[in-house]
Amino acid sequence: MLKGKSVLIGVTGGIAAYKMAGVCSSLIKLHADVDVMMTENACNFITPITFESLTSSKCMVDTFDRNFQFDIRHISAAQKADVLLIAPATANVIGKLANGIADDMLTTTALACRCDKIIAPAMNTNMFVNPVVQDNIEKLKKYGWTVIPPESGRLACGAIGTGKMPSEEVLISYILRSIACNKDLSGKKVLVTAGPTCETIDPVRYITNHSTGKMGYAIANRAMLRGADVTLITGKTQIQPPPFVNVVPVVSAEEMYNEVIENADSADIIIMAAAVADYRPKNVSDQKIKKSDSDMEIKLERTKDILKEVCKHKRNGQFICGFSMETENLIENSRKKLEKKNCDMIAANSLKCEGAGFGTDTNIITLITNDSINELPFMTKEQAADRILDAIISI
Ligand code: CTP
Repeated sequence: MLKGKSVLIGVTGGIAAYKMAGVCSSLIKLHADVDVMMTENACNFITPITFESLTSSKCMVDTFDRNFQFDIRHISAAQKADVLLIAPATANVIGKLANGIADDMLTTTALACRCDKIIAPAMNTNMFVNPVVQDNIEKLKKYGWTVIPPESGRLACGAIGTGKMPSEEVLISYILRSIACNKDLSGKKVLVTAGPTCETIDPVRYITNHSTGKMGYAIANRAMLRGADVTLITGKTQIQPPPFVNVVPVVSAEEMYNEVIENADSADIIIMAAAVADYRPKNVSDQKIKKSDSDMEIKLERTKDILKEVCKHKRNGQFICGFSMETENLIENSRKKLEKKNCDMIAANSLKCEGAGFGTDTNIITLITNDSINELPFMTKEQAADRILDAIISI
């Protein structure tokens, strides 16, 4: 995912420094080219050899170290980096960076960096809330730094409070957002529906379907990485929603409908990947299910067709893509849906193909518009999400 990308990691003298070995290892697994710089104090918590072993490149600490091939290292490292992450960042280093002090390899390089700069403050709560530290953090934000807020929890000093460095996963998500993709959806608002809807029968039972939400979540994630401002309206799922996405949880089709209508107008692209339960019990309060009944009779009514309703109010320049899950006549039935719902594109998938449809990490999708049919090969849902977004951008 990060092939050809250069990540510069700055490690400063806080106890969370040891966690950066995991971050570097994960970045290497994502095929990034990783360089690490440490402050002298950081070397008290973890050694440069740890990072050198993980990244296969020299870990720079001393600006005047002569033991390397000659170049002006703080300038070349700054030029090479696609992103700089300083984590953990101590109050001392934050203070230096906010005030243009460059008295070691890391702060000198940071001053020369023109790429995205991300910083993860980590320290004791009292230090973190100190107004001078807060002012310095605000200054860094003003100078274009992205600040990863510290988490609350048990700190190394034994106190419980804010100041804990966020998990490796969170740090990596900031790097991915910064450099994983070209920002070809920057400035676009994308609305995605995902997951199943549930329709209550009585206080205990409900009607739903097998949707896991994986396809919609993949679309939301890729759109976010490509720079879009993403809202994800989602039914109940077991999977983690992507970071940096505005998540709106819903349960029923009616709730999903209301949220979609509320958010649709401001969206440039709407992709409805939710598997909306087609039916719901009619007049729930009147339903009588006796435990002794061997045959339950439930009166059903159709849920609102959200996609069709949204397409009725489609505004100029807006692109609406629906999904179609079919067990037979994939193209013919999906074309009918395109016409019936009046949307711009249908992403059709056959429930009969192995590796496609509910629950899998892969999909086989055919993209159908009024004048084209594009059968995509077997691929991961993340890849399929990209191809759907590519098709939308090209139209
Ligand atoms: N959809 C919707 N509201 C519904 C049903 C479906 O918005 N009440 C959307 C789905 O999110 C999907 C598209 O419509 O983008 C097609 O869904 P699908 O279940 O394949 O088709 P249906 O419209 O339910 O039609 P049918 O029952 O005839 O297959």
